[in-house]
Amino acid sequence: MNSKMMEGIKKALGKEEFDILTKKIKKDGMMKVLGKELIVNKKLKEIMTLAHGNKQEKTLKKDSEDEFKIRLKSHHNSSGILDKYIKKNKITKEDFEKKMNELPKDVPRVIYAHTPYCDKICSFCNLNREQLRGSLDEYADYLVSEFEKYGKYKYVNSKPFNVIFFGGGTPTVYKAYQLEKILKSVRKNIDLVHDYEFTLETTLHNLDDEKIEILNRYGVNRLSVGIQSFSNKGRKFYNRTYERSESIKRIKELKDKFNGEVCIDIIYNYPGQGIEEVVEDAKIIKELDLGSSSFYSLMVHEGSELSKDIVDGSVKILEDLKKERKLHDAFVKELTSTGEYYPLELTKIAKKGRDSYQYIKARNNGGDTLPIGVGAGGRVDNIGLFNISKELSFFIEKSHYYIIFEKLAGLMQFPVIEKNKVKNILNDKEYNLFTKKIREYIDKKLLTEEKSSYSLTSDGIFWGNNISKGLLKYIADNLFEG
Ligand SMILES: C[S@@+](CC[C@H](N)C(=O)[O-])C[C@H]1O[C@@H](n2cnc3c(N)ncnc32)[C@H](O)[C@@H]1O
Ligand code: SF4
Repeated sequence: MNSKMMEGIKKALGKEEFDILTKKIKKDGMMKVLGKELIVNKKLKEIMTLAHGNKQEKTLKKDSEDEFKIRLKSHHNSSGILDKYIKKNKITKEDFEKKMNELPKDVPRVIYAHTPYCDKICSFCNLNREQLRGSLDEYADYLVSEFEKYGKYKYVNSKPFNVIFFGGGTPTVYKAYQLEKILKSVRKNIDLVHDYEFTLETTLHNLDDEKIEILNRYGVNRLSVGIQSFSNKGRKFYNRTYERSESIKRIKELKDKFNGEVCIDIIYNYPGQGIEEVVEDAKIIKELDLGSSSFYSLMVHEGSELSKDIVDGSVKILEDLKKERKLHDAFVKELTSTGEYYPLELTKIAKKGRDSYQYIKARNNGGDTLPIGVGAGGRVDNIGLFNISKELSFFIEKSHYYIIFEKLAGLMQFPVIEKNKVKNILNDKEYNLFTKKIREYIDKKLLTEEKSSYSLTSDGIFWGNNISKGLLKYIADNLFEG
């Protein structure tokens, strides 16, 4: 915990109580004391909860009435439930290498490559990244060698991949010559299907003409640009570079020069955001003819600058579900009203015939993801892995149940859930439990039933991650505790 946070706690607890707390911490250590105090000290719990925002979302509520008290804002919240129920076995690097020497199964395959650096840190962000200091030569060479290493495995070279996704951090933070080196190594070592998707996440200030030309030359065909808001108020709050007019100008230039699809990310519900601002964001997306936009409601993550500002009192976030709903609906309505854009996923709207977002489709339809780079995680068949550092990775064997539940959580990210796809994952007993709980949601008008599918209503889309978690929990409760 940093000094800013300690100051915030001191202010809220008062000097006397704060002194007692710090004495205890000195004696028994931070983790032990906080662990105990958070259970008994209501005031402290409130402060930490505010700072850590959606940590509340991790608490499981017993009865289904509570399912919709707190809105889950991302799929991480809804799929996190799996860890509570299903054990994973730690396995070794050798087990993973064995898998790498086998032929892949017949599923969509993705490579996720991570760049854990940014040259400027956004207020809301606690992603796996750090402030860039010094040269990225070493990390670029490391990625090159990782692609070379993986290219030699049978799992990789026996069949082309469907998708490559470079995420971050900021994978365009490299100098042009470093970026070229990395992309050259990708194309040399990895085969891609003819209708492949190759995405880089980027910010507007990290691209120039030289880098765009390199992206074109090496066949990158999709850019995911972190915009977050076009309004000056929003951009300032999120600590994004450029004002509204410059960011619009730069997207136009990017669309002219880049050969592939340009998509953006939006975060709504920042403090003080009005309906007109979220509607304006949607209008600009249409005017710029962008392939798609994600739209997440602002989450307060532990470790972000925002969470620290909340603790020290310089920013106040009032959870207001009605306002969040209004902003959500206004954005969706504005973007989808002409019929050109449609909800592709719970938090993604795409233009018809344009961004097909194969990355998320592959992942959510049970495909494999081979993670490359520090901070990258994925799953190859039944092996989950996460690269903690250049030298160290963590491998686990995911059980049958873990995988089927993960697949079901993936299917629940789409506005239309095809019955056949669910039947392919679940056995009869599990499918019966699934339909029983689905019926409850149909009665609540969150879903409708068609002959071969279920569709989320607009209420259902807003509450989609709660529905997903509710379903998983219901099935797991009845399978494992019933
Ligand atoms: C993996 S991140 C992309 C990071 C990339 N460097 C960028 O700036 O676009 C994907 C998106 O998740 C969303 N996101 C990240 N943190 C968030 C938060 N605290 N609240 C809401 N959305 C968030 C943002 O829209 C972000 O662009
Ligand atoms: S949102 Fe993206 S650019 Fe901003 S700090 Fe996080 S990873 Fe970096």
